[in-house]
Amino acid sequence: MSTAFATAAAVGADASGAEELAPAEFARIAAIMQSEARIALSPAKTTLVCSRLSRRLRTHGLTTFRDYLSLVDRDAEERAAMVVALTTNHTHFFRENHHFEHFREHVVPELRQRAEAGHPIRIWSAGCSSGEEVYTIVMCLLGPSRSGARWVFDRDVKLLATDIAPHVVAATRRGVYSEMTVEPIPEAYRREWLQAQGNEFAIDPQARQLVTARELNLFGQWPMRQQYDVIFCRNVMIYFDDPAKAELEQRFAQMLRPGGHLYIGHSERLIGPAADMLSSCGQTIYRRDAGQ
Ligand SMILES: C[S@@+](CC[C@H](N)C(=O)[O-])C[C@H]1O[C@@H](n2cnc3c(N)ncnc32)[C@H](O)[C@@H]1O
Repeated sequence: MSTAFATAAAVGADASGAEELAPAEFARIAAIMQSEARIALSPAKTTLVCSRLSRRLRTHGLTTFRDYLSLVDRDAEERAAMVVALTTNHTHFFRENHHFEHFREHVVPELRQRAEAGHPIRIWSAGCSSGEEVYTIVMCLLGPSRSGARWVFDRDVKLLATDIAPHVVAATRRGVYSEMTVEPIPEAYRREWLQAQGNEFAIDPQARQLVTARELNLFGQWPMRQQYDVIFCRNVMIYFDDPAKAELEQRFAQMLRPGGHLYIGHSERLIGPAADMLSSCGQTIYRRDAGQ
């Protein structure tokens, strides 16, 4: 049996049985996730953690979580890689479409008015994963025809997309998606804003240039100086514990200009002081009160 095969088999055995990751080792991993990314992992996630980390063990030729954890303790780069391996990056275009219907109908006309009055427009997709969310926002802003999109290209309109995981930030920057991935995009948008590239589809370069993609841990310092007109942070906070959610929601509320909108995921809700600054204006849609 080759060493590579022996290693894979051993890790495969770990990955399939929760008992291979001892409770104390799981607790150590959960503590790192909590302190590095505020991601809360309950013991029910043991099998998931085993299977997601098995590749990290193989990469380093390790067969036990004990050895892997001692590597993580002495190697900050591997600690970061472990955090990334344990993030969930599931996303798709036009996810939770009622948000985009609201955005198109109620928010885009207001943003257009503000842009035409000379205000900069800033939109943030926080926890953007591979970019489907931010490019959905871009398409909703631009509309289905290039001629109708002039107000965006001719004014100071910028979108920021951030995520803790470098590989999804790179995918956002690239803006190239498989045929299956672009399926949920309505035909009219696809025709105008996607370009065939071999078997894949690239976001139109002019549309892509509206977006800046950056690595950012939401619990670190935020380098942005200006306030935002709209923040989307959807299906991200579900992974955090309540104090972390409350802290983040308050930071989002402060980061919005008065009158600005916050969209959160369908299973999320506002908790803590943010609730005093934001009013509900739709299903998981909030607006910062003018006086706040
Ligand atoms: C399930 S995806 C959601 C993507 C998109 N917002 C959507 O709703 O389709 C969650 C994303 O949040 C990111 N994430 C998790 N914890 C984070 C943190 N502390 N800081 C920044 N991003 C984080 C993950 O890397 C992942 O890409």
